[in-house]
Amino acid sequence: MPDSHRKTVTIINNETGQREEFPIIGGTRGPAGVDIRQLYQKMGMFTYDPGFKSTASCSSEITFIDGEKGVLQYRGYPVEQLAEHTCYLEVCYLLLNGELPTETEFGHFHNMITTHSMVNEGLKDFIRGFRYDAHPMAILVGVVGALSSFYHDSLDIHDLRHQEISAHRLIAKMPTIAAAAYKYSLGQPIVYPSNDLCYSENFLTMMFSSPTQRYEVNPLHARVLDLLFLLHADHEQNASTSTVRLAGSSLANPFAAVSAGIGALWGPAHGGANEAVVRMLEEIGDVKRIPEFVARAKDRNDPFRLNGFGHRVYKNYDPRARLVRDAAHDLLEQSKTSDPIFEIALRLEEIALEDDYFVSKKLYPNVDFYSGIIYREIGIPLNMFTVLFAVARTVGWIAQWREMIQDPERVIGRPRQVYKGPEHKDYTPTEERGFHANCQRVCPGRPTAKWSRS
Ligand code: CMC
Repeated sequence: MPDSHRKTVTIINNETGQREEFPIIGGTRGPAGVDIRQLYQKMGMFTYDPGFKSTASCSSEITFIDGEKGVLQYRGYPVEQLAEHTCYLEVCYLLLNGELPTETEFGHFHNMITTHSMVNEGLKDFIRGFRYDAHPMAILVGVVGALSSFYHDSLDIHDLRHQEISAHRLIAKMPTIAAAAYKYSLGQPIVYPSNDLCYSENFLTMMFSSPTQRYEVNPLHARVLDLLFLLHADHEQNASTSTVRLAGSSLANPFAAVSAGIGALWGPAHGGANEAVVRMLEEIGDVKRIPEFVARAKDRNDPFRLNGFGHRVYKNYDPRARLVRDAAHDLLEQSKTSDPIFEIALRLEEIALEDDYFVSKKLYPNVDFYSGIIYREIGIPLNMFTVLFAVARTVGWIAQWREMIQDPERVIGRPRQVYKGPEHKDYTPTEERGFHANCQRVCPGRPTAKWSRS
């Protein structure tokens, strides 16, 4: 067979002349992968790719992104079509099960999620243990991990039914925990979920009602929030999802794995960007100050970045950002309000997209550039923005966790390293490093007899 027809890649060590061939793994769409699992055995070397810029850590059937074209699909369906025609819970079903549900299937799933939204009363004690001013993301990381202490009846990770029950529990209970974290920070009683409300209505009610004050859900707010949930539902192997897969690959339970994912989401380079964007826009404060901030973002000596701009995968407009921007427009127009930071955001986008620095680096607004404007309009406080991202992304995390656990090629995730530390050092006794002869700080009470490696 001519070389050009073989689906392999040859790696040549130019120092030794060793040549080895590695198979190419093709997907249905997007770049193929070179299967270098045998690289170390064959060539005694590792690949070096900090940040996984060119590394596929798994194969997946859940979400597809074409970053060059600005395409995002869940299970093959373009996110724009899903955003137009369906709701978050139907997308949850799709992500978990691989296909859109029939009416009966959806009825069953909907019922399952809405009737499992209450949390064990004992969980409230965990929340009460946090400081009154704790960031709700800190509460979420802890409380989601603690769920595993309540549901050990169904934590056999190899049992398909247990996997499903854990998935349903997480999706159903996450809004309840999120709203409880908020209520706790206000010193108000936790509001119970209502089975007769849809997912986003229920969340808004738990956030904003109180025993003394009924809360009438604004249908437009519920619809826009549902859209944001849908657009954040999954995004293939991002930092938090990879964390969930990595933590889960040790066969840890799904609540522990998702809790690890929430921790990874928190940072401003990932899910924390929605909070950081609004803080940045508030700091800019006036369109006149935009050039000053754009200049700072371009300055290599200034760590400041335009929050909500840029993406590891999208080198084109993030399709979610376009939908969120349009939704923010509609929301403000229909509620006949204006938000000065929305004006600043629109102008900032215009200026950045004409600037050589952003154009040449293909930096466009991402999903979080406009989402905070919507949350603000709905009345969600700033420190809850990333929590809402976590609520929405829970389905993606758990769908990816299930795919990983069921993958026959699954192994524990364990990256290697290129070691650059000292080659070898012998221990220098404390006396030779100026320690006082009677100093007991180093290993107090250690035996006097010498241990040797005979
Ligand atoms: N402002 C200014 N410069 C930027 C920005 C930005 N927001 N983003 C990237 N750059 C520059 C960066 O300095 C680098 O320049 P150079 O090549 O001269 O060193 C170049 O663009 C490539 O950036 P990178 O950091 O190598 O790219 P990355 O793929 O490692 O990082 C990112 C992606 C999202 C972390 C980054 O774009 C960023 O920090 N953006 C701001 C934070 C943000 O909005 N995060 C939310 C991401 S979307 C929601 C989610 O799913 O998490």
